[in-house]
Amino acid sequence: MHTLTLTRPDDWHLHVRDGAMLASVVPDTARQFGRAIIMPNLKPPVATVDQALAYRERILAAVPEGMSFQPLMTLYLTEQTTPDEIHRAADCQHVYAVKYYPAGATTNAASGVRVIDRVWPVLEAMQDVRLPLLMHGEVTDSDIDVFDREAVFIERHLSRLVKAFPELPMVLEHITTKDSADFVREGPANLAATVTAHHLLLNRNAMFEGGLRPHHYCLPLIKREQHRQALVEVATSGSPKFFLGTDSAPHPKAAKESDCGCAGIYSARNAMAFYAEVFEEAGALDRLEAFASHYGPDFYRLPRNNDQITLIREQERVPEVVDFGGHPGIPLRAGGSVGWRVAAG
Ligand code: NCD
Ligand code: ZN
Repeated sequence: MHTLTLTRPDDWHLHVRDGAMLASVVPDTARQFGRAIIMPNLKPPVATVDQALAYRERILAAVPEGMSFQPLMTLYLTEQTTPDEIHRAADCQHVYAVKYYPAGATTNAASGVRVIDRVWPVLEAMQDVRLPLLMHGEVTDSDIDVFDREAVFIERHLSRLVKAFPELPMVLEHITTKDSADFVREGPANLAATVTAHHLLLNRNAMFEGGLRPHHYCLPLIKREQHRQALVEVATSGSPKFFLGTDSAPHPKAAKESDCGCAGIYSARNAMAFYAEVFEEAGALDRLEAFASHYGPDFYRLPRNNDQITLIREQERVPEVVDFGGHPGIPLRAGGSVGWRVAAG
């Protein structure tokens, strides 16, 4: 039996929702990860420090007894966000970043930013206090091909942001293209990226295998094989600019299998096993710990976790269906199996 013991990892991009859904998904993450950056795209969004603190309490209430999971809260950037709110966030020990969604880019992004120049003073305040900017890096203009939205975001916005804010920690979230992998690798030290398990495992054929596959629909969309390979290359390269962020995003089965299905893949249940598969396949298992457990906290200037988890090289079945607060949900690789499992305890 092959086992792998690592510093406990963290998830630097996670959706846990609210209410009954929250209660059923938090344990999957808390079993594996010490901390997670919690996305603020609730309805209405988590836009103020007070809202983030109240949301944090609801998340903590869902952590099973005996687990010490810490939610790291974020604020949702809107055109109404003020520099004052940024200063409140900087003074609050539980808010770790601000999330930029282009208006309409994805699930619950209606309150996002329409014109980036309108939030310039807020970005300046964030730079002053070194509060990280997390970016959903896509443009939403209807004349841009949906598969090109991320590359055009770099061209139109990110290259400008990087020049204008040399001291602002920035994370390009859930990167999906070789363009992003190259841009971040070659970019300044204040720019990093998170990489999901599904973008490392799948190429866009997975959305159309034998028919339309709504459970492989997420944003940004999964891309061509050459892009997947570029992501595997940077994630396993040992570069500290790329670290783990699952973007696990639960939606009830009915909301995905619908005439206008929601974007989001639920990968939290077997997240570490999926990443271990990718790193093993790339012959880079020795680099999994740094990607999952070191580079994230180093970038956020937080201590690394001081406990460990053990992964066991054993086939584990992924259930066909999981419970999302009383509604059926379909996890990534439902009904299949993964080559690793996390040891209990
Ligand atoms: C996320 C969600 O459902 O909240 N969906 C997704 O496809 N990743 C939002 C996001 O991160 O884009
Ligand atoms: Zn997300």
